[in-house]
Amino acid sequence: MTTTVRTSSLLAISDLTVRFRLPDATVHAVTDIDIAVAPGELLAVVGESGCGKSVLAHALLGLLPANATVTGKAVLRGGDKPVDLLAADEKTLARTVRGRRIGLVPQSPATALTPVRTGRHLLEETLRAHGQARKHAEAVAAGVGLTPADLDLYPHELSGGMAQRLATALALAPDPPLLLADEPTSGLDRPLMDGTLDLLRARCDQGSAVILITHDLAAAERVADTVAVMYASRIVEHRPATEFFAGPRHPYAHALLDALPDRAFTPIPGHPPMLTALPAGCAFAPRCTRARQDCGSQPGPEPDQRGQLACHHPIGDRR
Ligand SMILES: Nc1ncnc2c1ncn2[C@@H]1O[C@H](COP(=O)(O)OP(=O)(O)OP(=O)(O)O)[C@@H](O)[C@H]1O
Ligand code: SF4
Ligand SMILES: [Mg+2]
Repeated sequence: MTTTVRTSSLLAISDLTVRFRLPDATVHAVTDIDIAVAPGELLAVVGESGCGKSVLAHALLGLLPANATVTGKAVLRGGDKPVDLLAADEKTLARTVRGRRIGLVPQSPATALTPVRTGRHLLEETLRAHGQARKHAEAVAAGVGLTPADLDLYPHELSGGMAQRLATALALAPDPPLLLADEPTSGLDRPLMDGTLDLLRARCDQGSAVILITHDLAAAERVADTVAVMYASRIVEHRPATEFFAGPRHPYAHALLDALPDRAFTPIPGHPPMLTALPAGCAFAPRCTRARQDCGSQPGPEPDQRGQLACHHPIGDRR
């Protein structure tokens, strides 16, 4: 499927597919992703563990290992000329994209931080490398709730939450027009979590775009403009956040919301499928109360109101 690239998009992804070759199997990690994000937009990507969220982010930045095959397009605008991230060579990505045009808050920041440098050193280096004054380090750190004393610690001296916040500060410091934030609030208590979310929201309000990858639907509801739900490597529903939280149409998205403690608090029965052995049709069918015979063929995604939906019998349709 090919989507028209919206001229207002900062990033327009079409047909993005990632496969990992294993000795005895192929992992279908990301399949036929079509999505765009505009300047000023905060897109939340949600879904259960292992559905492909981090692989999607790493594919955009050319950070996948050698056993990965990536196909599709991901056109990044906003610089001198548009660049297809999936076709760009490593030199282009390293010199002009990673950290400059796209910032990444990695999911496991403790392992991504250089161990022999203090937070202050890392932050000052990042600022200097992007033509900004090193003296701003403490102000950038304060934005994520780190004190000057925290900045003098080495990565191994930081708690998980402090490392998480330092990683966010490092990604935000160069002021990239697009930020990929992969679970940036994990390990944080509620006030710090809210602080990080508000910081991301403020970046969007100043014109940046943010793709927030999160397990936390409450976080998405707090700050997102748009929500994309992934299931078993595919986006199954994508729409404006207010409409999504008022009533998702995909049975999986509906079940995700119903599992929240402040909603029905009903767990989704069963487990996601192995990405090495996906069924030919809808991967959610074994867990879906609306499944019918035609769900044995792969649904959509189709345009749906102001979003997209991949389901043969969505909620709200007559069955
Ligand atoms: N290098 C690799 N080789 C083979 N399979 C991989 C590799 N990296 C990731 N995968 C697989 O790709 C799938 C998607 O992984 P991914 O890390 O994107 O999940 P996720 O949605 O980010 O999960 P979580 O919420 O737990 O972070 C998983 O089945 C994972 O095991
Ligand atoms: S396509 Fe069928 S099985 Fe899949 S979510 Fe929709 S109704 Fe359920
Ligand atoms: Mg992940």
